[in-house]
Parts: sequence; C-alpha cells; structure tokens
Amino acid sequence: MSAEIISTDTPERFKQAVRRAADLLRAGEVVALPTETVYGLAANALSPEAVAKIFQIKGRPAHNPIIVHVASWELARKCAAAWPDSATRLGRAFWPGPLTLVLPRAAIIPENVTAGGGTVGIRWPSHPFMQAVIRECGFPLAAPSANRSNEISPTNADHVKLSLAGRLPLIVDGGQSAVGIESTVVDLSEGAASVLRPGMIHTESLSAALGERVGEGAGAGELRSPGLLAKHYSPKAKLKVLSWGNNEDLLDQVKSKGMDPNETVVIAHTCLPAPELWLSVNVIPHDAEAYARALYAEWHRCDEDGARWIVMEAVPDLAEWRGIADRLRRAAAD
Ligand code: TXA
Ligand code: MG
Repeated sequence: MSAEIISTDTPERFKQAVRRAADLLRAGEVVALPTETVYGLAANALSPEAVAKIFQIKGRPAHNPIIVHVASWELARKCAAAWPDSATRLGRAFWPGPLTLVLPRAAIIPENVTAGGGTVGIRWPSHPFMQAVIRECGFPLAAPSANRSNEISPTNADHVKLSLAGRLPLIVDGGQSAVGIESTVVDLSEGAASVLRPGMIHTESLSAALGERVGEGAGAGELRSPGLLAKHYSPKAKLKVLSWGNNEDLLDQVKSKGMDPNETVVIAHTCLPAPELWLSVNVIPHDAEAYARALYAEWHRCDEDGARWIVMEAVPDLAEWRGIADRLRRAAAD
C-alpha cells in the first residue's frame, strides 16, 4: 500500500480531503491527519477493529492507551463515564487546544483504546481540518502521533511520509503543526488534578484556570501513563543537553564526552558556536512557542543528515519551557 497524499490549501481541496478522509474512516481504515500539536494516526475510536490497525501500523505496544479526539462538548461527554467540574473548567479555558483530559472511560470506548484501563484521554484539537473530519464522521477519532513507535512525532506531512507511507492509504497535508510538541495530559480521574505529560499548556496556567494547584505527577505518572517511559521522543543520534560560555568551552565538553565535533550537530538559541568545527550549527528561536514549533523538524533533519551526536543548548528553567525541557530530557535519556 502506498499512501495518497492530499493537500488542503484551497477551500475546494480542503472539502475534498475532508470527504476522502471521512469515507476511509467510516470504512474502518486508518489515515494520517494534521493536528496543531503533531500529526495524528486516526481511526474510528468506537471500532476496536479500526483501532487495532493503529497499533499494528505504529508497532505500538498494546499497553499504551490512545487519546480520543472530539469536536464538541457533547461528544467529549459521551466518551467519559463521569464529568467532574474540573473537566468543564479546564475544557472551557483550553479547548479546542493542546490539552488532553484523562477521565473515567465510558462503556462505548473499546478496551484497546484505553489499553484495558478504566480511564480515557480526551482532547478537542483546534486544527480546523481535524475538527472538520470529526464533525463529518460524527464519531470520535482515536489518534496517537503518526510515527512508528519510538520515533519522533511528525510535525508536517513529509515526516509522516518518511515514517509510514507504505503502511496506510492516506496522508492529509495540513501544513506545519503550529504547537509542535504533544498535548499536555492531565489526569482528572481521581482526586486532585495532576499533569501526566507536560506540554505547552503549563502547570501554572492549568492551576489558574482550575482555581487550585495542579500537581506534577512524576512518580505516579510514570506508571499510569506508559507513554511517559523515560526513553521516548528521541532522534537516532545520541543527544546531550549542555550549557557553554564560548566555543572552546563547548569543544572541551564535547571532546571530554568522546564525541567528534565533525559528526555533531549543535542546536543553539543564544550562544552560537563558530560553524566550521561542527557538522552543522542550527539556530532555533529563543522563544518557547517558536522553539517548540521548530524542535521536531530540527531532530528529523539531524536524522536525515546522518548526525551521530546532537548537542542541544539548555533551555531556561521557566514554566513555559517545562514541556520542551521534558522532551529534551527524554531524548537525552539512555
Ligand atoms: O498532541 C497529542 O496528544 C497527539 C495528537 C495526535 O493529538 N497525540 C499523541 O498521542 O501524542 P500519543 O499516543 O503519541 O501519546 C499519548 C500519550 C501517551 O503517553 C499515553 O500513554 C497517554 O497519552 N495516555 C493516553 N490515554 C491515557 C490514559 N487513559 N491514561 C493515562 N495516559 C494516557
Ligand atoms: Mg507518540
């Protein structure tokens, strides 16, 4: 199977793509669709057979649950067995957008979506194409990131094509993902709200919207959200996060780690080393939102260029950088 890739860059093409994607989804197929965080590998969330194909295409372990995407309050509530006030408050503040709420699972959600667990992750994405397809289908869409398991999430249609083109019938090109890293996952299924996966909606914003402190579920989260295993979201090259004062300082650090500068890509936002000694020096914006938007494309490019090592300049220790710092930490984990 070789994926058809269709664009959405005129109103007419957009409409055709919505119809084509919805037809395939109704027929129980899996298609790659754009969202504002990363591209998703979507199937009818109410069909266990369709969802099983997602696991197969991704090579995803069966113990990792999949987020369900909706485009209305009504559909969101149908997916959950209980709807606490906290879900209404956070949904009102951040939906549609890059926030996933973990709630008790409704009986209509098949077991393979939740990996056999009693909770379901629900997200109302803001990308107009994803919203249009969900409305056209009338059912929620289960969608993990559209990459093979353990690869970097795709933030454009080319990334999806490189990873999955031979494995699915359709990739819809909806442009560059505007957020660029995966949604913030918040557990509301029992007691106090806690963040299972940090993202661009940070804990301070969540706490402000909720009117109470939202926890950062380090210990519990590791076990309760299998996607939070330490090694995840990593490029093929070995990655180090470093801070340096100048060129020589960086060179010393890199050599002391046994890395060859000639095979190393440096991705920096503030302190740019002279380019001659490195495989390349890539500049990434020094603004958390623009940085997140660019990050995975930088890593995809390192993979394509055959980099052996990647040096990431450390990022500020501030709320709006926490989701990014989390991805850097996981990519650097052994
Ligand atoms: O931004 C996103 O969330 C993207 C787009 C496509 O929506 N999706 C995404 O899906 O990143 P995925 O499958 O690559 O990551 C979903 C994460 C995993 O870490 C998974 O373990 C966690 O969410 N998750 C899903 N359902 C859960 C649940 N019921 N309880 C705890 N964690 C859950
Ligand atoms: Mg993923």
